[in-house]
Amino acid sequence: MAFEVNRLGDRFAAEIVGIDLSRPLSDEEFAAVREAWFDAGVAVFRDQHLTPAEQVAFSRRFGKPIVHVMSQFLLPGHPEILLLSNKRHPDGTPVGFEDAGRYWHSDISYDERPAMGSHLYAVDIPPAGGDTVFADMRHALATLPDDLRRRVDGRWARHSYTRNWRRNETVEGGRPAVSAEQRDRLREVSHPMVRGNEDTGEEALFVNPGFTFAVEDMDEAEGEALLAALFEHSTREAFVYTHRWRPRDLLCWDNRTVMHRATSYDPAHTRHMHRTTIAGGRPVQAAYR
Ligand SMILES: [Fe+2]
Repeated sequence: MAFEVNRLGDRFAAEIVGIDLSRPLSDEEFAAVREAWFDAGVAVFRDQHLTPAEQVAFSRRFGKPIVHVMSQFLLPGHPEILLLSNKRHPDGTPVGFEDAGRYWHSDISYDERPAMGSHLYAVDIPPAGGDTVFADMRHALATLPDDLRRRVDGRWARHSYTRNWRRNETVEGGRPAVSAEQRDRLREVSHPMVRGNEDTGEEALFVNPGFTFAVEDMDEAEGEALLAALFEHSTREAFVYTHRWRPRDLLCWDNRTVMHRATSYDPAHTRHMHRTTIAGGRPVQAAYR
């Protein structure tokens, strides 16, 4: 294969160089890219020059692009592109999500069919900060102490976009208001806590501090304590890779196997990114021991 794959983190995350994603990939190239990405969980393609249409076309090879519920932050003419940005319109309203998810989360896990993957393209990045940090939930599950593992196998947890709002807001950066119509489109859902990946056959822990708020068939306090223990375990340094952006990076992550968060930066600098989000199926429970 013409491109090169370099490992970035100790256990996961890879850099893919020597491929131009602005042109259509052959089936063979696409299969190799897909395998490299899913294997690594997080893959960055360096030095890409992508128009919005080219980014959407690349993402579409993997599945149907999701149009985000926060419609005011979609790129005009390209509703498949969600803007993560601290730019402002002339009237002062934000152009995109400014906080860009500074709490740990898996994209759109509050939906019955969460996003399979997300592709984020760096248009403008600040000179420092504004990193994206990832946690490998496969490794987190594999190293879970037995007492915690027994409590998550076969169990389901509840996810919501708004339940943890206050806590997410306090992380920093604030979050934009959700309109009544947008709220109507949001439902609370349950997903297996140990999720199978139908493409790789791997299993991963599937709970996140941003959107998971309760454990099914467990009283509230016990569920919260269990979730807190899982979050503490899965965000330990050993499971984390921090992506320091370069201009024109296209960063791809598999929401089934990693969770992520953004770090802060000096708001005097512009951070402007284009995200495409790929639809996934209903999370499947991994076969458990
Ligand atoms: Fe996100």
